[in-house]
Amino acid sequence: MTQIKACLFDLDGVVVDTAKYHFIAWKELANELGFDFTEADNERLKGVSRVRSLEILLEIGGIELDEERKEQLAAQKNENYVSYIRKMKPDEILPGVEDFLNQLRKNGILIALGSASKNAPLILKQIGLTHMFDAIIDGNSVSKAKPDPEVFLKGAEALNVKPTDCVVFEDAQAGIEAARNAGMHVIGIGHPDNLKNADFVMPGFEDMNIDKLNFN
Ligand code: BG6
Ligand code: MG
Repeated sequence: MTQIKACLFDLDGVVVDTAKYHFIAWKELANELGFDFTEADNERLKGVSRVRSLEILLEIGGIELDEERKEQLAAQKNENYVSYIRKMKPDEILPGVEDFLNQLRKNGILIALGSASKNAPLILKQIGLTHMFDAIIDGNSVSKAKPDPEVFLKGAEALNVKPTDCVVFEDAQAGIEAARNAGMHVIGIGHPDNLKNADFVMPGFEDMNIDKLNFN
């Protein structure tokens, strides 16, 4: 039985539901460019970097743009997105997350963030959770997007814990693969139909406790 020493959390879709704000901001951009963007389209952007998200959006709209224009649009979308997350409050932490983090701390299990978002520090500040993390690895500190394992390997390194003693919590398939590529255990957050190759999948943290961190 593996003794888990660290838990690594994705942020968007695991700790908070920021997908709804990403959706509004991307939809506004799509509409401005003259096409629609649906919630189903938005599913394709989960766990995907900002630049790649814009490329997918432009593919949906059948639009080709040069790099400079793409950079402008990504910046514009981000400004709009940030205007929403600046209003976030601690009551947006998803149910059960805070209790579980407290349980981990009480039991000496280390906690890291492993997020693709460059806005992760602002979100953690808004919801009042920054102090709970022993290490924060986000879109500002990685050069390779999930499913590359970089974000989680850097997290384990910052905590000085072996990858095999870590478990990752992820809501996106690319994130599950990143955790596997890092040689870590992984718990999916969401529906098993959308999350393959996790140790197990749960709908959220409401029924989670440290006794479930037992892996062979
Ligand atoms: C991920 C989200 O956590 O972060 C993606 O799931 C998002 O939807 C990505 O595109 C990058 O986020 P940001 O905040 O840097 O634009
Ligand atoms: Mg996510």
